Amino acid sequence: MKTINIAIDGPAGAGKSSIAREVASELGFVYVDTGALYRAIALFSTEYASRREFLNALEDDCHLEMKYFGGTQCIFLNGDNVTDKIRTPEISMKASEVSALPEVREFLLETQKDIAREYNVIMDGRDIGTVVLPDADLKIYLTASAEERASRRYLELEDKPDAPSYEQLLEEIKQRDYNDMHRAVSPLKQAKDAVLIDSTTMGFHEVCEEILDLIEERLDLE
Ligand code: DC
Repeated sequence: MKTINIAIDGPAGAGKSSIAREVASELGFVYVDTGALYRAIALFSTEYASRREFLNALEDDCHLEMKYFGGTQCIFLNGDNVTDKIRTPEISMKASEVSALPEVREFLLETQKDIAREYNVIMDGRDIGTVVLPDADLKIYLTASAEERASRRYLELEDKPDAPSYEQLLEEIKQRDYNDMHRAVSPLKQAKDAVLIDSTTMGFHEVCEEILDLIEERLDLE
């Protein structure tokens, strides 16, 4: 039976993950955070002294698995649960870098397509609607101004020790936007048939509701 596939793309910090997770849980779909795959590869790359060595090792020595524990996605790299380790600012930047390499994108393409063939998914990333799932049942492009995204991130982190400043976060977001939108292979862009949601002035629940309404309209789910 054909599975239902919903693609959510957009820039870093637009709220894709938390929104996709919530919508998936409402619908009983599998939520797939494809950024975690790129982040795990970024972590893998730190074990190698040069890009050449890293790319040579990728095919044979980088085994990634997604596992779900009570709806929470965990990512395993060569048997280790690296779910927390991949959430550092260094790995964010590195993921943005390695994701520009055609070898890395090729390596992950079939993994993502296979998951979508097997399960009803809400998959979030940068090229899901344009490259990974061009025939998705619904495509959303979720964005917000860079300032709003930096400010949301700042509020999430401000109580943590060594929390970055708002200016640092804004700079990082702008840098990642630039990298993600200007790479030669599968750059971040809105698919022609994607619905644009600008969440700059919208709350979390408002965005979830809008997406759920679109899904209901498009798919006639009962
Ligand atoms: O969504 P995220 O911030 O966890 O993603 C980390 C990096 O991975 C991001 O800077 C761009 C890259 N990425 C990508 O190129 N394509 C995807 N489908 C998902 C993420």
